[in-house]
Amino acid sequence: MKIAMIGAGYVGLVSGACFAEFGTDVCVVDTEISKIEALREGRIPIYEPGLDKLVSENVADGRLTFTTDLKEAVRGAEAVFLAVGTPTRRGDGHADLSYVFAAAEQVAMAAEGPLVLVTKSTVPVGTGRKVKEIVRKARPDLQIEVASNPEFLREGNAIGDFMRPDRVVVGVDSDRALAVLKKLYRPLYLIETPVLATAIETAELIKYAANAFLAVKITFINQMADLCEKAGANVHDVARGMGLDGRIGRKFLHAGPGYGGSCFPKDTLALARTAQELGAPATIVEQTIAANEARKAQMAERVIAACGGSVTGKTIAVLGVTFKPETDDMRDAPSLVILPALAAAGATIRAYDPQPSHAKQSLPASVHWAENALDAARGADALVLITEWNEFRALSAEKIKGAMAGKVICDLRNVWDPEAMRDAGFDYSSIGRP
Ligand code: UDX
Repeated sequence: MKIAMIGAGYVGLVSGACFAEFGTDVCVVDTEISKIEALREGRIPIYEPGLDKLVSENVADGRLTFTTDLKEAVRGAEAVFLAVGTPTRRGDGHADLSYVFAAAEQVAMAAEGPLVLVTKSTVPVGTGRKVKEIVRKARPDLQIEVASNPEFLREGNAIGDFMRPDRVVVGVDSDRALAVLKKLYRPLYLIETPVLATAIETAELIKYAANAFLAVKITFINQMADLCEKAGANVHDVARGMGLDGRIGRKFLHAGPGYGGSCFPKDTLALARTAQELGAPATIVEQTIAANEARKAQMAERVIAACGGSVTGKTIAVLGVTFKPETDDMRDAPSLVILPALAAAGATIRAYDPQPSHAKQSLPASVHWAENALDAARGADALVLITEWNEFRALSAEKIKGAMAGKVICDLRNVWDPEAMRDAGFDYSSIGRP
């Protein structure tokens, strides 16, 4: 079986490499020549654990190829996946679908026989129908079925999420599309993964509903953390006590500086807009978006308060700036709000992140970059942990204390033990813990 993957971004690359690992011939297409050249030479443009190995092995086995020639990729493909970007459209918060529609038309024009066109990009409900109109109009002579197959990949864990998913969702309106998708996901049937076949509209909505629900869940625990601080309770125990109720579940109840990333901020916004337009406003989602935005700014105020009300002339060490650990992705990272606010308030910032390649371009030029955590802490009046990379858990409190000039620590991810940090002599604060 042969398929084409349009888009060598995060989703396209991971999905393409994983389908190849499943035994399918996959050709990944991108318009960016430098990206395709890099991939052909075995260089992966993103940091995702295990992806380089998966790509190189499947390239070596001849199942995974890269091209800028969409026509060549579509030739002989039984299924073509659209994994192009759907960024937030400037001005109105809607998902920008221009790349999806353009790619759908190009695929239709390139098709030489019947195929199934599968949307993997996150697209608002109703997009599949529009894609269908586009391909019908472009190629009335050909049998091109349309399907929706949303991804639920977490950055940093994407390969595991693809290979051992909680479920696979396929939105279809034809037996052939269902048969092709079932064939592609056959290895997952062996591990008894539930495969949910729904209408195309339903599949599109499942993706948004799942991401929005998780964003609500995080925002809920963040607000409980604020309440814990006022009430003298411990959010960690509240989350555990809630999460042990099987109806609630333990995951995604870690209080922090607010969610970021390439999906939650964009998808909540797009869902809220669609819901408004269709006359069924998702007010919980709207409130979540507003609360999360406000929270990131509040985190800077929290640091300033911990520093005695002013950071003017002070040096602040920052550990971790990516939107979460095990990624170099900076999209909508809380640090993008917190660091500029601290710099604007007069602080000098010394930051360290294990994967700083994108961070250096996205954060203010005034940020000094340290080689490691201790180097960042050297001479700092205060230290702020924003992203919970594992290596920070193991840091020696004594060494940090020795390196810093001051003793203020704001742990925005509750990585360290409050008692141990206070015993070490720090003026330590975390999120929602007494
Ligand atoms: C998310 C979804 O999990 C995935 O299914 C979807 O396909 C894409 O979006 P991702 O953006 O990679 O994946 O990261 P995720 O691990 O979900 O975290 C998102 C944000 O929420 C991060 O900023 C993270 O720090 C934050 N978060 C997560 C919390 O603050 N608390 C939690 O308990 C969990």
